[in-house]
Amino acid sequence: MTRPVPVILDCDPGHDDAIAIVMAHCSPAIEILGITTTCGNATLDRTTANARRILELIGATHVPVAAGMEKPLARDLVLGTADGPSGLDGTPYLPDPTMPLDPRHAVDFIADTLRAAPGPVTLVPTGPLSNIGMFLLKYPELRDRIARVVLMGGAMYRRSEYITATEFNIFCDPEAASIVLNSGLDVTMVGLDVTMQVLIEEPEFARLAAIDTPFARVVHDWLRHYEKLHRGQMGVGGAMHDPLALACVIEPSLITTRDAHVAIDLTATHAFGATVADYWNERGLPPNAHVASGVDAARFFDLMFDLLAAVDAT
Ligand code: RIB
Ligand code: CA
Repeated sequence: MTRPVPVILDCDPGHDDAIAIVMAHCSPAIEILGITTTCGNATLDRTTANARRILELIGATHVPVAAGMEKPLARDLVLGTADGPSGLDGTPYLPDPTMPLDPRHAVDFIADTLRAAPGPVTLVPTGPLSNIGMFLLKYPELRDRIARVVLMGGAMYRRSEYITATEFNIFCDPEAASIVLNSGLDVTMVGLDVTMQVLIEEPEFARLAAIDTPFARVVHDWLRHYEKLHRGQMGVGGAMHDPLALACVIEPSLITTRDAHVAIDLTATHAFGATVADYWNERGLPPNAHVASGVDAARFFDLMFDLLAAVDAT
């Protein structure tokens, strides 16, 4: 039995972040050292409350939660719209959290956790990269204690009516994303190119209904709300953006990747915050990311539903 991968989840829950947290908790392949929260899908106070709400829901209150950046590094906060003002609309019946919040700022929590870990730690950011960017600015000497970064973000090459030039996590804090991409860290980018291939449609709702536990009914309510924006804007179901990024840590073979230099457009107008991958090395710069280019959607959903079904058994 290989040792579980020690991870810090950095997130902005957020319905899909919530499912990623649950999957990490239920997977024997993952050891959650902590959860850090950032602004993004909702304001920091709400994403932080949601992270604790989710941990209480699944009986994982031993996992420390530390709140981080309440706004991007260099610009005003533009909130995401997919999850509603609370960040977890659709489940107003979930009680307010009572578990304590770690008193440290997320950036300092990450530093202390890396120092205390016996080996390198994997960072799994599924929201804007504000905490990670600030961490790298404040603690450059701890960079080598990071095994790798597996992030949900970007749209590197597929364009369609479903995939616009910019992806929210990067768009929300492009300067932070630039810091991460220029850090020299081993970065895997799980972008819209693959996450828009793992959509929750009626067959997936039927699989969820078959789990038939109180927790699965909460997930159902999360996902029904979550699909509203996707269905309204694009006519498709909710994309499992963050669960796929997390799943790639559990089972790396779920995706195929291409190495490329990825730059963030910080000067554009309509494509501001776009992630531009140089697959043909026209910039003459070394690759700085493993860019997810393909996904085995069926195996991903099998893994996701297996882990969601395990919740009441933990
Ligand atoms: O663009 C998708 C990303 O933005 C996901 O992480 C989702 O939770 C939102 O934060
Ligand atoms: Ca997110």
